[in-house]
Amino acid sequence: MILITGLNGEMGSALVQRLHDLGKQNIIGLDIKPVKESIKPLLSKNYIGDIKDKSLINKIFTENRINEVYHLAAILSTKAESIPFLSHQINVDGFLNLLEEIQNYKSEVKFFFASSIAVYHLDNDKNIKISEDDFCNPSNMYGCNKLYCEKIGSYFSKHSNLMNNLDFRSLRFSGIISANTLPVGGTSDYAPEMIHNAVQNKDYTCYVNPQSCIPFMVMPDAIEAIINLMHSSKKKLKRNVYHIQAFNPTVEKIYNKLKEHFPNFQLSYDVNQRRQSLIDCWPCELNQTAAINDWGWKPKFDFDKAFDEYLIPSILDFYSNKD
Ligand code: SER
Repeated sequence: MILITGLNGEMGSALVQRLHDLGKQNIIGLDIKPVKESIKPLLSKNYIGDIKDKSLINKIFTENRINEVYHLAAILSTKAESIPFLSHQINVDGFLNLLEEIQNYKSEVKFFFASSIAVYHLDNDKNIKISEDDFCNPSNMYGCNKLYCEKIGSYFSKHSNLMNNLDFRSLRFSGIISANTLPVGGTSDYAPEMIHNAVQNKDYTCYVNPQSCIPFMVMPDAIEAIINLMHSSKKKLKRNVYHIQAFNPTVEKIYNKLKEHFPNFQLSYDVNQRRQSLIDCWPCELNQTAAINDWGWKPKFDFDKAFDEYLIPSILDFYSNKD
């Protein structure tokens, strides 16, 4: 059986649909809120509750024979800064609750962990094209939480005397832009918010400056990356953790692109220093050699294709069907 945590989130909703389309059955969801009606028919079971609740996690693993986990439940970076202790409990203790249950299993569990480029901290030169082992010195709560979980997952999956059934795989995502949903509590949220506003003929006030730059990708590429990584032969994977990106526009570049489609769109700025400081120390460009060589990472959507063929038509469609 497959367990998805954080099912109602942006990535959870898209992933469950894709797994269902691939013919996967026996999908179980866990979320703190009741499952969205649109997803319900795709699940064989769902649990409402807290990832921090050890007895609930124990119940899920006792009542079901789980052999694949997609662990997506998390507090994102901006929100984590305002509730650091709770963020640690959800992002770290919640993760450990899952590993503890897996340890009690005899059979193998393939585990996907959604990590983030928040694990990096670049002091000055944002333009260095970094590899996975560079600059892993996070200066934000979310990044600390994610890096620690990556390390613990890799540690257990390498030490078979401690845990001989964990196959731990992880991707460090950056900003992800979906046509159907908006993220909550992230620092990269400005891009999806700006795009969704422009399509709805609304102006946008951006909380980071025009030159801000981090990597992005669209949701369909993020989901395909998870599926491809999880379906790759273990022998080919030289690492447990990979980072990936599709394009890396500045705020200004996104604005100019939106202006081509929506000439009346107006962007203003009201910079939030904390959010700006997070964006400023995250990388602008990733060296993706490991992901390309080991499991064939190749995004379908570059910057222009993402806007012209996916985001703008799909978001227009999404809001016209909502009316
Ligand atoms: N999108 C995440 C955030 O902004 C970073 O990976 O928190």
